[in-house]
Amino acid sequence: MDSQNTLDLIQTALDVQFRYAKGPVPTDLFEHPRWEMSAAHAGILTGLKNLYELAPSVPEDKKIDFAGYCLLWVSLIQLHHNFEEEHFLHHYPEAFEHKADILSEHQIFHDGIEHIKSYLLGCLPLGTKWGFFGEVVAEDPSRAQSQATTFDGAHLRTLVDAFAGPLTTHLQAEIGYFAPESIKAAGMTEEKIKQMGKDTQEMIKKIPLQPAFVYAVYHTAPGIEFPPLPRFITKFLVPWVLHWSGTQVRGWLHPQQRQCH
Ligand SMILES: [Fe+2]
Repeated sequence: MDSQNTLDLIQTALDVQFRYAKGPVPTDLFEHPRWEMSAAHAGILTGLKNLYELAPSVPEDKKIDFAGYCLLWVSLIQLHHNFEEEHFLHHYPEAFEHKADILSEHQIFHDGIEHIKSYLLGCLPLGTKWGFFGEVVAEDPSRAQSQATTFDGAHLRTLVDAFAGPLTTHLQAEIGYFAPESIKAAGMTEEKIKQMGKDTQEMIKKIPLQPAFVYAVYHTAPGIEFPPLPRFITKFLVPWVLHWSGTQVRGWLHPQQRQCH
């Protein structure tokens, strides 16, 4: 796959998410799952598009910082899919036939995400903190040498090319699975949707503000109000405090993202 093809796939998938993600929390509870899902996917696709566009032109002295920025995207997609598999899907009745589709689709690009993660970790010196939860790069059998590899943007793109097709297909298909008529037909109830909302809030509370919230806020497109964070966080804490406290996100924002915040 060539790079224009990958960017087209990402943009097409992003346009599908925007159709359902924009606007405030829907008043109809049965619209919530698709609204939340499409907004989360929009953040994942915006982050992927941004790192893919920037990868070939990263200055030599910024390569380690950029690899760390890309690993925030890895954290985001892993968090999203783990949450779906371990919490979100458990609220759905057995009659919701798309559970199996979702799990099998995750498996198709699982290796692709692991490859990009291990490549990026190999570009960081041992002991570096990475990702939303501040994990530390440690000696690993998959790491060929104790010295970090020099980041190569062209190589990173080939790793993304390898999973862009199945990932973007999955992110679009999932929006259809959570259509209100589909979940109603499967026996989903308002009570269960409310419980899912509480679970999502609990999960969000466990994520450290820095760098995850900075990443989330800066990769949220205008008009999207998910995750529903207090304005104190989105309009003050992120742009005026956390922005200046050593975040890797700061230097890698698309000009449009900078204007929005
Ligand atoms: Fe999803």
